[in-house]
Amino acid sequence: MSYEGKNDVEKTIISRRSIKKFKTDPVNIEELIELLNVAKWAPNHKLTEPWRFQLYAGTGKEKFVESFLASQERDGNITDKAKNKAAYFREIPLHLVVIMPEDSRKKRWDEDYAAISALIQNFQLAAWERGIGMIWRTNDWTHDPVFKEAIGVKSDEKIVGTLMIGYPKHVPEPEKRTDIRELLTIIDE
Ligand SMILES: Cc1cc2nc3c(=O)[nH]c(=O)nc-3n(C[C@H](O)[C@H](O)[C@H](O)COP(=O)(O)O)c2cc1C
Repeated sequence: MSYEGKNDVEKTIISRRSIKKFKTDPVNIEELIELLNVAKWAPNHKLTEPWRFQLYAGTGKEKFVESFLASQERDGNITDKAKNKAAYFREIPLHLVVIMPEDSRKKRWDEDYAAISALIQNFQLAAWERGIGMIWRTNDWTHDPVFKEAIGVKSDEKIVGTLMIGYPKHVPEPEKRTDIRELLTIIDE
């Protein structure tokens, strides 16, 4: 049997899965804000706090879905695949778009991207501990200027992910991960 963790933190890290099938039960927005206030304690060089968020809930979700569909339009047509994806997005309780500044300084950009990624993982773990699931997504359309403009993300900002959030209907089995011993070089003399 694989290692399952010695304490709550380890168990949560190991057991968290990306969720694609959600219950329709709503997720409380105040609870979500509380979780983001936990997640913000990510390590962050120079404390740049390189993040802002747009949350789509209730009828507001349609703005997110319409922006997605706008990015999928080709010669005035939208494929059935895109329409099906839009229908799937409509069923998910919350969509959180996580945004960082595109700093032109490479070192600062790297540090900001690292910090915001740590924040997202903190958020996923804290939510998982409360039974709330999510998937961190980046897709061609999250990089598409059409989508970005439609939801009001500026050209000097980057969408680090869209987090699709709800109570899990199905938790997938974990996929195999390589034993760290195979990837670790110990230099001890
Ligand atoms: C930056 C980033 C982007 C991702 N984008 C997608 C995505 O577009 N579609 C998807 O199904 N999963 C996406 N994922 C989730 C990964 O597929 C998932 O973490 C991986 O399969 C391992 O599964 P687990 O999170 O359940 O351990 C993304 C994860 C990260 C970190």
